[in-house]
Amino acid sequence: MTGDSSQKLFKVVFILGPPGSGKGTCCHAIQKNHGLIHLSAGDLLREERQREGSEVGALIEAHIRNGTIVPVEITCMFQAMRAAGDSAKGFLVDGFPRNQDNLDGWKRQMSGKVDEKFVLFLTCPTDDCIKRCLNRGEGRSDDNEESFRKRIDTYNSQTLPIVEFYKKQGLVREVNSGRPIEQVLEDVERVFTEAGF
Ligand code: C5P
Ligand code: MG
Repeated sequence: MTGDSSQKLFKVVFILGPPGSGKGTCCHAIQKNHGLIHLSAGDLLREERQREGSEVGALIEAHIRNGTIVPVEITCMFQAMRAAGDSAKGFLVDGFPRNQDNLDGWKRQMSGKVDEKFVLFLTCPTDDCIKRCLNRGEGRSDDNEESFRKRIDTYNSQTLPIVEFYKKQGLVREVNSGRPIEQVLEDVERVFTEAGF
C-alpha cells in the first residue's frame, strides 16, 4: 500500500435541499471561490433532454414535469466527473443522490473512487421555495405550481431519507437558506473553510 492511491480519489461535496432552496446559486458562488467543478444532476438531465436524437429525452421530460426521479442508469454522474478530468480539485454534486436508487447506483459505481467530504444541506420554508421557483423565470417546464407540489412530495418522501443516511455518518452540514443571499453564502463559505477547502 502506498499513500499515493488516495490522491486519485475524486473529492465530492453533495448539495441537497428542496426545490428552490438555492442549490444552484450556492454552487455558482462556491465554484468561483474554490475552483471546484459544479455538476448539477438536473442540468445534466435537461441537457440530455435537449440533445437531438436522445433516446431518453421524452422519458426525462416526463419525470421532470411529474417531479419524479429519473433512473440512475440515465443520471450517470460518474461519466460527467470523468469528462471533467482527473485534475479537478473537487466536485460539487448538486441535486444528487436524490433517492435510494440514485444512492445505490452511486455506491455501485463510485465505491473506492471518491472521498465524500460532506453534504451541504440547504433548508428553506416551502412557501419561500415555491415563490422562488415560480418567479425565477428560467422557463422550466417544472416551475409551475402543480409540478412544484409533486417535487416537494418527492423531496419529502425520497430525498430526506438520503439526508438522514448521511446525517448518521456525521456528514451533514445544514445551512438555513431562507435568508438573504449574503447571509446564506457567508455560512456556506464557513462550512467549506471548516472542511479544509
Ligand atoms: O435539481 P433540479 O431542481 O434541477 O431537478 C429538476 C428535476 O430533474 C427533478 O425534479 C427530477 O425530475 C430530475 N432529477 C432527477 N434526478 C436527480 C436530479 C434531478 O431525476 N438526481
Ligand atoms: Mg438546480
